Order: sequence, then C-alpha cells, then structure tokens
Amino acid sequence: MNTKLTTDVDYCAKLLQNGQNIAIPTETVYGLAAIITNEKALKHIFTLKQRPQNNPLIVHIHELAQLEALVTHIPEQAVRLAKAFWPGPLSMVFPKSKLVNQVISAGLETVAVRMPNHSLTLALIKAVGTPIAAPSANPFTRISPTQAQHVLTYFDQQIPAILDGGSCQVGLESTIVGFDQEQPIIYRKGGVSQEAIEAIIGQVQVAKSNSAIKSPGMHLKHYSPTTRLILTEDISAEIEEQRSHYQHIGVISFSSFNHDKAEVIKVLSQTASLAEAAQQLYQTLHDLDQLQLDVIITKALPSHGLGASINDRLQRAKFQ
Ligand code: TXA
Ligand code: MG
Repeated sequence: MNTKLTTDVDYCAKLLQNGQNIAIPTETVYGLAAIITNEKALKHIFTLKQRPQNNPLIVHIHELAQLEALVTHIPEQAVRLAKAFWPGPLSMVFPKSKLVNQVISAGLETVAVRMPNHSLTLALIKAVGTPIAAPSANPFTRISPTQAQHVLTYFDQQIPAILDGGSCQVGLESTIVGFDQEQPIIYRKGGVSQEAIEAIIGQVQVAKSNSAIKSPGMHLKHYSPTTRLILTEDISAEIEEQRSHYQHIGVISFSSFNHDKAEVIKVLSQTASLAEAAQQLYQTLHDLDQLQLDVIITKALPSHGLGASINDRLQRAKFQ
C-alpha cells in the first residue's frame, strides 16, 4: 500500500468511513486515526502502534454537540475548561456513554475527549460526521511526530494516507484532566500549562506519574529517541565527562549555548520562549536521532508553565 501525503479532506473522510486508518494533523502532534464506530479499525490502531491493549485512545470531536453523545456526565468545571481551551491542547476524561467502544476506553468506564485546534482535522471530523479516535502516530515508546514526514518514517506502506497539515504548532501532546468526585486532576502535563488551567478553575491536583490505574498510558519510558539521552544539571561538565568515552556528542539546550567539544548543539529557543521550546522539542529529538550520535546531553528547563510539560517528556525520554 502506498502512503499518500494529501490535503484532501473529503478523500481522507471517505477512507475513515470505509474503516481505514489514516494519520491526521493536530496542533499538538500527529494522530493515527480511526472512526469510532468501526471496531476493526480501532483494533488496528493498536496493531500498527504495537500498543498495549490496556492503553486507552483519545476521541476527537469538532463541536461541543458531539461531546454529549459520548459521555453521561459533564462536570461544571469541565464546561469552563472547554470554553477556555477548546479547540486546543486539552483532553478531558468523562464517564463514557454506550457509544464508546470498549477498544477505545481499554476496559475503563471513562473516555478522554478533546477538540483539536487544527482547521484540516476539524473539517475532517465534520466531513466524517462521527468523532474519531486517535493516539499519537508513533510506535509505542517512540518520539511523537510533529510533521507528516515523521509519520511517514514510522508508517510508510502501512496506512493509505497522511493528511498533511504542516508542522504542529504546540508540539507537545494535550494536557489530560480527569475528575474525581468533581475534583479536577491533571493526569498528563501537556500543551496547556497547570497555571493556565488554575487561572480558570482554581487549584488542581497533579496525579503521581505512577498512578497507572488512572491513566494507563503513562509509562515511564516514552517519547524516546534510540540514541541515549542524559539529563544533567550542568551540560558543560557532562560533555567533559562523556568525552572520555565518546566522540559524537549532541546537545539540546533551552537557550543559546556553546561548547567546542559537542558535535552538534540544538537550541530550542533563541529567545528562551517555553512555547517555542515545546514546539521544537520533538522535531529536535527526531533530527538528532538521525545523526548516529553516541549520546545526547540536555538539561531540564525552568519548571513553570510549559517548562513543566517539557521536563516531563525529557524525564521519560531518558529511559532506554
Ligand atoms: O495531543 C494529544 O493528546 C494527541 C493528539 C493526537 O490528540 N494524542 C495523544 O494520544 O497523545 P496518546 O494515545 O498518545 O495518549 C493518550 C493518553 C493515554 O496514554 C492515556 O494515558 C490517556 O491518554 N487516556 C486516554 N483515555 C483515558 C481515560 N479514559 N482515562 C485516563 N486516561 C486516558
Ligand atoms: Mg502517545
């Protein structure tokens, strides 16, 4: 099967309606999509990604009216968050309705839903007429794709089409918020910062990263390049240390950085913007992973705002 890069929304809508899997652009990362009414297509997502069966999928909608059919209860604070952040990089977890196939919820009684902020994908969901389920379009544990080309590298010949929406503008997966007795909890840090959420609904808890029952997909090893990644407090000292073993050292620095013993230095944001760093992170990991480096050295970013989400991904990326 040849994988076609296309911007033809109607063509992609027909493929989904026919039970095929295609890749879709969103503002966060590219997704690997199936129409939610076709169980075979939903199951095939897990096969393509080599994803464990107990890891639920996010359902994508194009208008609020689609949410009501998917869930049995919408907490008051969810309404406020939807008003503030949809369409955008926020997923929310609700008690699911019968419309939600068990394959999507991976056996849970809940469903994660979001309205992505990408004009092509919003038009696609509208054209399909039914919500679509989509995890990130990467094999299990690998770096999420932020360009059509990344998806092609992973799934060439395995899916009929990639809806090409250019580079993802946010570049990190959505923030996932659930509700426990109406109390909001952040299950996964992502494209909407904790501070931005708290500005709308007040203080929220953050689930411990090992709370596997609440958000089964949050494996410690995730978003990983195949090259070893070291997270350090002092990049220069680490380069000196690693140079006694290795020749080819790559560096990812938040802002401007120089060192004559690094083979390549990637700066996430010349202006030290956390939003730009988030947008560049996966692209940078994909690029460095192509260079056959011995090791990639990086340092945690300032831990406020999107910096906290970026640091979460760096922590997971360092597990090999
Ligand atoms: O930005 C994003 O969220 C991207 C784009 C494509 O929308 N999608 C994405 O999907 O990152 P994925 O499958 O890579 O991560 C979804 C995670 C799961 O690993 C799981 O932790 C959580 O969402 N999740 C899904 N349904 C859930 C549920 N019912 N309860 C708790 N967590 C859930
Ligand atoms: Mg993922």
